[in-house]
Amino acid sequence: MLTTKRLRLRLWRDEDLPGFAALNSDPRVMQYMAKLLDRRESDASAERIKQHFVRHGFGLWAVELIGIADFIGFTGFSVPSFEAHFTPCVEIAWRLARDYWGFGYATEAAFAARDYGFAHLGFERVVSFTVPANQRSRNVMERIGMTRSPDDDFQHPLLPGGHPLRHHVLYRLARPAQRHEREESRIRCQDLLTDPFRTCSRAIRGRTSDG
Ligand SMILES: CC(C)(COP(=O)(O)OP(=O)(O)OC[C@H]1O[C@@H](n2cnc3c(N)ncnc32)[C@H](O)[C@@H]1OP(=O)(O)O)[C@@H](O)C(=O)NCCC(=O)NCCS
Repeated sequence: MLTTKRLRLRLWRDEDLPGFAALNSDPRVMQYMAKLLDRRESDASAERIKQHFVRHGFGLWAVELIGIADFIGFTGFSVPSFEAHFTPCVEIAWRLARDYWGFGYATEAAFAARDYGFAHLGFERVVSFTVPANQRSRNVMERIGMTRSPDDDFQHPLLPGGHPLRHHVLYRLARPAQRHEREESRIRCQDLLTDPFRTCSRAIRGRTSDG
């Protein structure tokens, strides 16, 4: 679990599922996703997120707005299941319910995840990607220091040729030397995860070193 000034990034609970389904069926939140999710699809997505934690030792944390809302969305890491010129890799990602946009929560959560990934999960680099029009998400990427090269643009392999969302921009961020030592004192991180989790973490670290 990670704690920031306003947020808690934590493992998922069953009580998060209705809120997750609500944001996954909101056309404003899902504007740049391939499709809206119904309750069954949203629950299945949450289950995959939980399984990702088991398999890799990290994942997309549920985000809590401390003292105000138990669940506002997710932020964290995901290992893409598709192959592209930048995979295997670790993606940093976020999705918040519409009511919680415009307050800096995604950026705050992303900073915490970024720093935790570099300082405690051993990542050498992370990527993030979206469609060019998703400026809000690109702003988050840029605020946390990620940079884009047009040479890295790609066609998302899970979308069919000609799909309007197929073209993606890719952002990258490498771990700066010494960053983890500087940042560790700034963010209060409490690792609630078990030893097997850490073993998984070491495994993915090796696999993603060229990501
Ligand atoms: C991507 C997403 C999380 C970004 O949300 P967001 O609210 O724009 O981003 P932040 O939470 O960092 O908030 C930044 C905004 O809050 C404002 N803000 C207000 N109070 C703030 C504070 N205390 N600190 C920082 N920023 C603050 C900023 O000025 C900025 O406003 P702007 O958009 O007018 O420039 C959101 O749009 C989303 O969930 N989209 C759908 C899912 C998605 O596309 N995910 C990414 C797929 S790759």
